[in-house]
This record gives sequence, structure tokens and C-alpha cells, in this order.
Amino acid sequence: MLVFGGTGDLALHKLLPALYHLHREHRLPKTMRIIGISRKLLARQHYIALAERHCRAQIEKKDFDDNTWFSFSKRLDYLAIDAAQAADFNRLTEFLKHSPEHAYIHYLATAPHLFASIASNLAINGLAGPHTRIVVEKPIGHSLDSALSINAAIGTAFAEEQVFRIDHYLGKETVQNLMALRFANALFEPVWRSAHIDHIQISVNETIGVENRGAYYDAAGAMRDMLQNHLLQLLCLIAMEAPVRFDADSVRNEKVKVLQALKPICGLDVQDKTVRGQYTAGHVGGHNAPAYYFEKGVNSDSDTETFVAMEVEVDNWRWSGVPFYLRTGKRLAKKTSEIAIQFKPVPHSLFNDSQANLLLIRLQPEERISLELMAKVPGKGMHLEPVNLDINLAEFFQDSRRWKAYERLLLDVIENDSTLFMRRDEVEAAWRWVDPILKGWQQHYQRPRPYPAGSNGPEQAHSLLEKHNRAWLD
Ligand code: BG6
Repeated sequence: MLVFGGTGDLALHKLLPALYHLHREHRLPKTMRIIGISRKLLARQHYIALAERHCRAQIEKKDFDDNTWFSFSKRLDYLAIDAAQAADFNRLTEFLKHSPEHAYIHYLATAPHLFASIASNLAINGLAGPHTRIVVEKPIGHSLDSALSINAAIGTAFAEEQVFRIDHYLGKETVQNLMALRFANALFEPVWRSAHIDHIQISVNETIGVENRGAYYDAAGAMRDMLQNHLLQLLCLIAMEAPVRFDADSVRNEKVKVLQALKPICGLDVQDKTVRGQYTAGHVGGHNAPAYYFEKGVNSDSDTETFVAMEVEVDNWRWSGVPFYLRTGKRLAKKTSEIAIQFKPVPHSLFNDSQANLLLIRLQPEERISLELMAKVPGKGMHLEPVNLDINLAEFFQDSRRWKAYERLLLDVIENDSTLFMRRDEVEAAWRWVDPILKGWQQHYQRPRPYPAGSNGPEQAHSLLEKHNRAWLD
């Protein structure tokens, strides 16, 4: 596996720890080597020391031991080349000359503007043969046009079956559980539609800021960094029809249909249906947090959104008239990723204090599915209160280690299973819907609404629901 961007955050914080776990559990092919690639001039032993430092910090103490690290480190190697320079690829070919199988996985953990040129340089240098795979990270491009041209360049060098477009949300256990919940339980399907559902909320709230990715984030913003990919993927899994089989194409065919059914939001609609926000100074988790525009790498007059909320409609038979409220932001009060399915009230109410049912699927921090039902309070009279049927999946399956998203996805790449990866048309359909919103924001420009770090986002995000007598869950 060749990890381009081998000294970057993604490689050091996510990929190498995930590969260490897979190694420890004997899931990696015996002869597999992992080669970090970046511009930094580093000797192999220094790269290994850097990797060790990060793995020790990321991996739970009970899972890290020196012997395993030592055997894992034998797989590691490092090559300093500038992936933006075509000429440097000769050195890569030379470096790989003694690699017996020529079965490479190229992991592009780099900025997206390098994807196209790396893919074509790999092909020119004979490193894109039929036994190779290429993995690219989101966001693929920053607009529909750039995504089309990146996909076209990758598509010239690699066949679609060789391309793995990662969205790490799809590797999360609870996200995969959405499919189990919907398609392995007959209970939900009959009510999973507009006749019974009032609205759906999908929230991915973070407490962290932009960390040391200020320059990347300032050019991307919450829409490109989170909504175009993670939140839309969650929406697809909630809204899609049952695939005929649980295989890559059947699942992805259904997801594409949802993306194609998203009702466009363009022109002045953006002011009605979307809210952009940006955090100002505040307190998160007992610490002072600076305003976004003071973060390292961020322009001091930046108008990039660190928060976005919107009302989305899926224009098809099943979901007609059911709003999906999407929200994501940095430096919010609590870290939670959750999906709330708010059912409609009973058609004829016998009791005064009855409330509509709510199904809550929490992805983070704990993995929980809970169904709020009405029950009678013991004693005289008919007083009702909501009670929860609640299951904490991590507690229930406590005997099995919870795999991190990247472990699952890296193993899928190694085993050539692309069910949990995005197909080319899927990424393009997502951009096709997002692009007019980005353009609408430019045409009907408004500065992002300020919200203090540690709050629940800008006021306007609440009005989005309040005007329809609804409210975000918290
Ligand atoms: C990444 C984004 O894709 O997802 C980050 O680039 C974000 O900005 C992260 O913080 C959130 O992932 P998770 O798994 O912590 O919810």
C-alpha cells in the first residue's frame, strides 16, 4: 500500500493506527508492505519513529504492545518524492522495482487537487495495472466541474472497479446498522414513508474546531467538508429503497436514485432553506475557544461557513412532503451524530398528553437506537408519559471490539469489496445537487451568521424548523 500524504494527519492519525489493528488481528496479507510517501526528507527509521509516536497516542493502551509494533514496523517503509512532480515518479518506479507482485493499493491521502495528476502519473509509469487499486478521500473536488474532471482523470488511468472513493462515515458500525435496522426488520418498512413520518433530522455536531487543517478547511467549509458527503450519505441510507441484494452495485444504485430525487435548492431559495454560520469566540468543554477567523491557516476576513443547516426534500413517491433537516457544525456545545425519525401523531387522539413516536439513531458518541413510545403512568387516571425502548449497541455487543471506520474500509479495499465506497455517478449526483446551493450563496451573498463557540449554532438554524412548529432535538 502506497500512502501518498504519508506524513499528513489522515495517514498518521487514522490510516496507520487502523493498519496496526488489522496487523495485530492477522487480517493483513503476510507480504503486504506499507510505504509512506511525502515531500519531507525522512529516513525510513525516522518515519517509523514518527508513525510509532502517533500510533501510541491514538491506540488504546491495552491494544498496543511493543512486540506487535515491532512486527508491524517491519512492513513500513518511506519514500520522499514530490507527488506534484511527474519526474519524481521515476524514483517511485525504481523504488518498487523489487516488489514481486505489482499489486499496489495507492492511497491518496493528499489534497484533492493532486488526485488527477497522481492518477495519471501512476498510469504513465506503469503503476496502474489491472491488479492495482486506487483509494481517494473526500471531498472529491470543490464543485461539480472539478469533481467531473478529477473523476475523468482517475477514470482514464483506472477502471471504475479499481477505484475506491472513501467516505469514512460508511465504515462506522452504526451507519451500517441503518441498513440492518431497515432491511432486516419487517417492523419498520410499512411505516417508513410520508404517510407516517412527519420529518427527519440528521445532525452531525462537533465540538472540535479546524485543528491544524485551517488552510484546507477555509477553502472547503462545512458544506464541502461534511454535508456534500457524510450527511448526504446518511440521508441516502435513510431514504433509499431496499436494494435487491447486499452487494456494491445494488446498494449504490439505490443511493444514486435518492441523490437524483433531491429537490434542487437554487436562487433565492437558498435564503429560505439554508443557513450558514461561523463560530465566534466562546467556551467549549470548559476551554476558551478563539473565533474561527483567528484559527491558524484561516483568512482573517474569512466568510467560510463552519456550520450549515438546511431543509431538504426528497422528491419521490415515498418521501413526498417529508422534510429532511440536515445540520452540521464545528465548535458546537456537544459532539453528537444522530438521526431522528419523528413520526406523525396518532390519527385520533384519545388522551390529552399523547406525543408522537420518535426513533432516535445515535451514531456518536455512543451507538444507540432508541424508540420513544407513550405509556401510562401508574395510578389513577390516564396520564401518559414517553418511555424509551433503548439499546446501546456497544454494551450489547461488548465481547466484540468496536472496529474503527478506517479499519473496516481498509480491509474492504484489500479484499476488493466496494459496497461501502462511493461510485463515480454517486459523487457526481451529490455535487450536481450541492453546486446550485454554493452558487446561490454567491449570488445572494450573506455573511455567515455568527454563533459563539460552545453554543447550539446560529439562531436562524432554529427558525428553520420553528416556522413549521418543529424544533431540533437539542
Ligand atoms: C472528516 C472531516 O471527514 O470528518 C472533518 O474532514 C470532521 O472536518 C470529521 O471533523 C468528522 O469525523 P468523525 O468520525 O469524527 O465524526
